Amino acid sequence: MRIPEDIIQEIKYRNDIESVIAPYVNLKRRGKNLVGLCPFHSEKTPSFTVYPENGSFYCFGCGAGGDVFTFTGLMENLDYVESVKLLAERSGVALPQDGVDDSMQRLRNRIYDINRDTARFFHQYLMSENGRPALDYLRGRGLSLATIRHFGLGAAPDSWDALLVHLKQKGYTESELIAANVVGKSQRGSLYDRFRKRVMFPIINIRGNIIAFSGRAMPGEDKQGGKYVNTADTPVYKKSANLFGMNFAKNYCAEQIILVEGNMDVISLHQAGFQNAVAPLGTAFTTEQANLLARYTKEIVLMMDADAAGQKAIRRAAELLANTGLSTRVVVIPDGKDPDEYIKKNGPERFAALLQGAVSDMEYKLLTAANGLSLETEEGKLKYLNAAAEIVAGADDVVARDLYISRLSDQYGVSRTALTAKVEELRKRSIKTRRRKEIADVLRPKSAREDVNPERRRSPKAAAAEETLLAVLLKNPDFYLDAKEQLPPEKMVTALNRRIYEILLTALDEGKQLDISLFAEQLLPAEIGYLVSLQNSEKARQNPKSVLKDCIRVILEEDMMLQMADSADKSPEDWAQELQKMINQKTKGK
Ligand code: UTP
Ligand code: MN
Repeated sequence: MRIPEDIIQEIKYRNDIESVIAPYVNLKRRGKNLVGLCPFHSEKTPSFTVYPENGSFYCFGCGAGGDVFTFTGLMENLDYVESVKLLAERSGVALPQDGVDDSMQRLRNRIYDINRDTARFFHQYLMSENGRPALDYLRGRGLSLATIRHFGLGAAPDSWDALLVHLKQKGYTESELIAANVVGKSQRGSLYDRFRKRVMFPIINIRGNIIAFSGRAMPGEDKQGGKYVNTADTPVYKKSANLFGMNFAKNYCAEQIILVEGNMDVISLHQAGFQNAVAPLGTAFTTEQANLLARYTKEIVLMMDADAAGQKAIRRAAELLANTGLSTRVVVIPDGKDPDEYIKKNGPERFAALLQGAVSDMEYKLLTAANGLSLETEEGKLKYLNAAAEIVAGADDVVARDLYISRLSDQYGVSRTALTAKVEELRKRSIKTRRRKEIADVLRPKSAREDVNPERRRSPKAAAAEETLLAVLLKNPDFYLDAKEQLPPEKMVTALNRRIYEILLTALDEGKQLDISLFAEQLLPAEIGYLVSLQNSEKARQNPKSVLKDCIRVILEEDMMLQMADSADKSPEDWAQELQKMINQKTKGK
């Protein structure tokens, strides 16, 4: 069922796109539009564009696009109807009670309930006689009972169906349990518990709902199914957009958040009083996580393990965080330990001191560049200075560059002039590479269009004409009767454009105002982005009527060519005749 169109328009009217997006993206005016760094993928130069004129947005880098509802949905992991509800609520628009399809919302609520019951089941098991080994293990790692309760830790029994039986008894259906991903379905169709013989960590979102689980193998059992088993993405969980510990950290993080690698690190730090620690959930740190953090705090301290993987993770996280405008510092933990081990061995005071000594990410890079070089030799020094110059060249702030240059020149007894010349030369070169990449990025929408509309590759000419035709109609709906008459939908060569064209014609037949929301429930998110890119494209601003005519001609010709190629019962001569006839008719009509 559907929310009435006039109510959708009312909500849109009260939630202008600029004010909806502004809390998430730093927008700058560019002509009549606004641009910023895309919140949906990682980028250094803004390709995320907001069009206040028609209330839409589009990212030329990743192809995401849509209206206020699409944006809110992508940002908050909601489906279309839920986004409409959220924005309605925010702006005080009342929605009619019935007529709103909330089956998805109902499923989500069921999954929250399943997860809560599952967490309870695991916790009770941990505290029972049978959970003794798991409890001993957690206590052995230094966790107090209070901490275990605070995090709602649990244990999964060594059974294929203990949880399944328990949850079925509580009245959940098999499909609900599968949707929650607490049980899996074997190839033969039987259901089984996904978590077995593991220590269980519930993952809780900032609203306090249990959204997923992470299960760690008991020592000596790592081989079976891996060290950690995690909930896959579900209707309530998107791994790449959540952080472990954020439900607690959000109350302690006005100044700073500590980003660590593992669940156990987070728990140890919280227990020791550092309740602003969070960790990504078994993935490399993502743009979405960086954006989430940027909404809560001013500064991130990165505290990854001291191994090579940890160093790499630091580099990556620092880059993503820099794009959000958050300031980032890095702590290198001595002796190759992880934060969990360090704090257990050295206590909270030494840990606090370590935190105090966090260095800027630039300094961190300068420090690690010296790894493996012997700075006493001329050769080692030279190598280091070259590497350092490269790093300093990466700083966008000229004062920062100057500062590091003078420090390096003092430290290593080289002239500032020489060092400055070197840095500026490297900088020029890197700007050139960046430029080249930017240009490549700008050229990308073409391939993004191919991703959304795979048939475009086979029929590029027809697809381009179809795109232009749709762009014209989106901007000039009054031409639609002409189009409808000359080009019935089935003549559209590519299926996606045909689908869009059909929706568009139906809507106009029903006298509706053309708006992205008309398409929202019938197109995939990437397809919506594609549509918005057409709606805002500069093509066909001039002479739309004659452009439309040309497009129709090209599409009809291409359609005929294709039919010709596909059919064997007409000779090429017949086809040529038919084609000529068609062209004659068209030119007569002018
Ligand atoms: P670690 O191997 O460092 O685990 O992985 P840990 O949390 O420090 O656990 P201990 O101290 O060895 O007990 C860091 C994080 O990476 C994810 C988990 O979220 C883990 O907390 N991970 C790791 C997985 O998702 N799957 C794996 O197989 C391993
Ligand atoms: Mn660890």
